[in-house]
Amino acid sequence: MKIIITKNKQLLATRAANIIIKQIKKKKSSVLALPTGNTPLGMYKKLRKAYRARRVNFKNVTTFNLDEYVGVPHNHKASFYYYMQKYFFKHINIKQANIHMLDGMAKNLKKESLKYEKMLKKKKIDIAILGIGLNGHIAFNEPGSTFKSKTRVIHLTLETRRSQKDFKNLRQVPKKGMTMGIYTIMQAKKIVLLASGKEKAEIIAKALKGKIDKNIPASYLQLHPKVIVILDKQAAKDL
Ligand code: PGA
Repeated sequence: MKIIITKNKQLLATRAANIIIKQIKKKKSSVLALPTGNTPLGMYKKLRKAYRARRVNFKNVTTFNLDEYVGVPHNHKASFYYYMQKYFFKHINIKQANIHMLDGMAKNLKKESLKYEKMLKKKKIDIAILGIGLNGHIAFNEPGSTFKSKTRVIHLTLETRRSQKDFKNLRQVPKKGMTMGIYTIMQAKKIVLLASGKEKAEIIAKALKGKIDKNIPASYLQLHPKVIVILDKQAAKDL
């Protein structure tokens, strides 16, 4: 595991974006697993800028988002679909057909999860970019998720629901999400974990330096051969 500590979150964003740009330069048809949330906003901004400056071309890139809410339509401002369009996809030249997102409105969520797994099996993820929740979740793999878990519906913890700020109030935050599993994520050839801010310091220290524990799903990353962790100073302060 390689740990990079940056001075601030702007530099964290630059490092993360540069890893993606380098990957796409090396392989035009790269497959990326992508996160939502606050942490990657800077990275998407840098990637949009790099695209405008023709430093990167997304024409042949394929993406799979890590997770989505159950029961939140695409046009809802809190949906991850909406986020991805707003901050990334509509600004770049990725083909719509190459964008994959879990459909939390699907009638049969089990079928939807299996379909995602099948597609992911065919297209190996070159890089999975992850954030980390305050409770140690990666994607929506909440504490208790097993190493073998695959794409599925999951009950969101109260802590996770409380941290979702795009809904008007807690009652509106869905109780369930869909997520790639731990096993699914661990199949990626490379994993990049991002965390910024002092509120992430404690969980980062536990996940990276503590023992592997299903109650801290990010700790499973210790088992992956190619992980790059990018932290700002504040998130690294307990290491
Ligand atoms: P955040 O979310 O980037 O908004 O802190 C991270 C996560 O819950 O995975």
